[in-house]
Amino acid sequence: MKEIVLSGIRATGNLHLGNYYGALNKFVKMQEDYDSLFFIADLHALTTHPDPKTLHTNVKNILAEYLAAGVDPEKATIFVQSDVPEISELYLLLNMHVGIGELMRTASFKDKARKQLGIKSDNDENIEKEIIGTDSNKRVNAGLLTYPTLMAVDILIQKAHKVPVGKDQEQHLELTRRFARRFNSYYGVDLFPEPENFNFGGNAVKVPGLDGSGKMGKSEGNCIYLIDEEKVLRKKVMRAVTDEGPQAPNSPISAPIQNLFTLMELTSAPEVVQQFKDAYADCSIRYGDLKKQLAEDILKVTLPIRQRILDIQNDDEYLARVVRQGAERARERAAKTLSEVREIMGIKKFY
Ligand code: ADP
Ligand code: TRP
Repeated sequence: MKEIVLSGIRATGNLHLGNYYGALNKFVKMQEDYDSLFFIADLHALTTHPDPKTLHTNVKNILAEYLAAGVDPEKATIFVQSDVPEISELYLLLNMHVGIGELMRTASFKDKARKQLGIKSDNDENIEKEIIGTDSNKRVNAGLLTYPTLMAVDILIQKAHKVPVGKDQEQHLELTRRFARRFNSYYGVDLFPEPENFNFGGNAVKVPGLDGSGKMGKSEGNCIYLIDEEKVLRKKVMRAVTDEGPQAPNSPISAPIQNLFTLMELTSAPEVVQQFKDAYADCSIRYGDLKKQLAEDILKVTLPIRQRILDIQNDDEYLARVVRQGAERARERAAKTLSEVREIMGIKKFY
């Protein structure tokens, strides 16, 4: 039997190069060899973006982007999280075995709680007090706290073995493994496998932004989107932060320039990267040329995807067919796991 792969992306906006290299292009490769499920996490999106005006459009965009990037509904199960109501029930049941302390210590919870409360410093001590607080206008929603339970349920309900995600999700996977172990051992069963991240043998990928700082991310405002028009994309790359250039031969490479090289390593041919690295080493590099080349090579990846997104995104009938079929398949397994869990936990019917 093939191993089961599952991953999802939250419906909070369009997909960018970080999502593509961190997750999406692994989905496309993995669907060839694994029993794969890829979904759009609309319930998770509600923890930070509870906006009924944009939610459905965001789900639709991500669905079109999955398909345009090459996720194939004939090879993989593609579904929307909320189309599988079994997830919501298991989320309630699993929460009985999850500690509020361990959830409060999760890094992503602390970050997002800080944002919801408008706290700037990363001093953890105050956060707990602020969360419990007394000001009823300031609150951190409980869905955000239990985000890792919901993510664990997405994975465990399908009994997935491998979960391709970027580096930032590793703590959530660690919690998922812990919850699986805890459930199995509390009830003396061997129900849930312990899932692991998957990167084709390499390290988890972190795609940098164009602003010289950390990772590319929606909330960082430093993204190149798969849907970006050619002109917009070129402009973004040409505006990327650089430095004053190497001052002496073989100088160390500064962070903003290393970011450009990292993007180039993902999108350009190895000899092209080498040519620019050599030019950096002998101080003949011109950042304008580097950026032009980088824009060219990114466009080779994104433009065909953009074209397919535009072709697919208004084909409502096709999109509906894909997710209807996906939901059926995903629900079949989810329902089986849920009934096993109900039985194990002692929930029995009178009739
Ligand atoms: P964002 O950080 O832009 O909000 P998400 O949290 O929705 O993106 O991430 C969806 C998937 O893409 C996850 O698997 C995440 O690890 C991956 N991902 C997001 N940004 C990056 C990045 N800059 N580098 C590598 N992977 C990333
Ligand atoms: N938390 C993930 C993110 O922010 C999205 C996600 C939700 C997910 N459920 C999942 C990823 C299950 C993998 C498996 O990117």
